[in-house]
Amino acid sequence: MNERIQVISKYALQGVETQALRELALAAKQTLESGSGAGNDFLGWLHLPSSSDAAQFEAIEQSAAQLRSECEYVISIGIGGSYLGAKAVIESLSDHFAAYKASNGPKVLFAGSNIGEDYLYDMIDLVRGHKFGIIVISKSGTTTEPGIAFRIFKDLLEKQEGKEFARRNIIAVTDARRGALRQLASDEGYATYVIPDDVGGRFSVLTPVGLLPIAVAGFDIRALVAGAVEIEQGDDEQVLEYAITRNALYQKGKKIEVLANFTPRLHYIAEWWKQLYGESEGKGHKGIFPASVDFTTDLHSMGQMIQDGERTLFETVLSVGDQQHEVIIPSDEKDLDGLNYIAGKNVDYVNKMAELGTRLAHVDGGVPNILITMPTVNERYLGQLIYFFEKACGVSGYMLGVNPFDQPGVEAYKKNMFALLEKPGHEEATAAIRAKLNN
Ligand code: PA5
Repeated sequence: MNERIQVISKYALQGVETQALRELALAAKQTLESGSGAGNDFLGWLHLPSSSDAAQFEAIEQSAAQLRSECEYVISIGIGGSYLGAKAVIESLSDHFAAYKASNGPKVLFAGSNIGEDYLYDMIDLVRGHKFGIIVISKSGTTTEPGIAFRIFKDLLEKQEGKEFARRNIIAVTDARRGALRQLASDEGYATYVIPDDVGGRFSVLTPVGLLPIAVAGFDIRALVAGAVEIEQGDDEQVLEYAITRNALYQKGKKIEVLANFTPRLHYIAEWWKQLYGESEGKGHKGIFPASVDFTTDLHSMGQMIQDGERTLFETVLSVGDQQHEVIIPSDEKDLDGLNYIAGKNVDYVNKMAELGTRLAHVDGGVPNILITMPTVNERYLGQLIYFFEKACGVSGYMLGVNPFDQPGVEAYKKNMFALLEKPGHEEATAAIRAKLNN
C-alpha cells in the first residue's frame, strides 16, 4: 500500500502541454518558501507541523482531559477558520451515529458558526441541566457569530454550574496579546491557547484552534500532526501536480472545481477545503470556484448537471482505499431487486465500482478528472491531506497572481450588517444604507 496521498492527473490533462505552468509552479513554490511574496507575514503554517513541540501537545491533552473529566458536552465556538478544520477532522474520524450512541467522553458540539436562533435554542435546550464546557476560538475576539454564542453559553454555564466550574471549563483560543477575548480570558482566569500571529484562520487547523477540539473528541493529535510533517518534509511533487493541473484547467476555461468524495465521513473535509481555496484564491475577479459533492448521494441530484451541463467544470475525486469495517451484501432467495449478482461482495466493492464508473463517465462527458488517493481515513492521512491542500493552495494562489493569505472581501457584508444593526461608530453607513434601501 502506498503510504502517502497521491495525485493522479492523467485523466485531466490529456494532450495539454504543462511545461510553462511547471516553471510557473516552481517559481510560485520558491516565492512561498522564501517568504518573498504577497502575504508573507502569514506563512507561520508552512513549518508549523515540524516545529510543533511536545510541551504543547501535553498541554492540549491535559486541557482536553480536564474537559473530558467534568463535561457531558463541550461546545466549540468559532466560525470560518476557527471552526471548519476541527469540524472536518472530528466528523472524518467519528462514528457516523456518535450523536445517538453512548460514549465514554463528552459530545463535541459546534456553535458560533451561524446566527440561527432556532439552532442556538435547540443547543441551549440540549445542554441545559447537563455539565458542559466551552472552547471559545476567535483570533480577533470580536467576530459577531461566535461572540453572540459565547455570551449565551457563558451566561448559561455560570448560572447553571457557578463561576468556579465555568472558570475551570472554559478555554479560550485567541491572539497572544490583542483583542477582546484575550482581555476577557485574562479577567476571568480562563486557560488560554495562542493562535500565532502569522497563521491565518483557514490555515490554523494544526494549531490549538483545531487540535484542542480534536483532542477533546478523543482523537490522536500527535498522529495528525505527524502525518502533516510527512508532507511538509516530502518532495512536493504531489503538491506541484495538483497546483499545475488545476491552473492548466482554469486556463482552458474550467472555472469550477468540484471536490467529490465517495466516503460520507469526508463531507466536512470538502467544507474546510472550500474555505481554504475560496478565501485564498477568489480575488481581483479571478479564481477557481470551489464546489463539492458527496457521491453517490449527489449523483442522484447533481449528477445530471456534472455529466451534461455547461462544460466549465472539472472534478477532483478524493478516493479512499480501505474502509474501517466490512459489511457483506446478503443473498436473497427471491432476488426481486436483482441484486444477487453482487451478493457476497462487500459494500465498498460496489462503491469503488461506482467511483470508477463515475470518473470514466464524467471524463467521457468532458469533465477532466483529478484523482487524489488516500490509503484510509485516519489521523495520519488526514494530517497529510490537510498539509497537502494548504501547501498546494499557497503555490496555486501565487500561480494565479493573487495574495493567497488575505481576505479583504469578507468585510463587505459585515459593514452593511453593522450599519443595519446601528452599531456605534457606523452612523454614516447606517444613513447611507437607509437612503439606498429607500430608493
Ligand atoms: O480564515 C479566516 O481568516 C476567517 O475564516 C476567520 O477565521 C473567521 O472569520 C473567524 O475569525 P476570528 O477567528 O477572528 O473570529
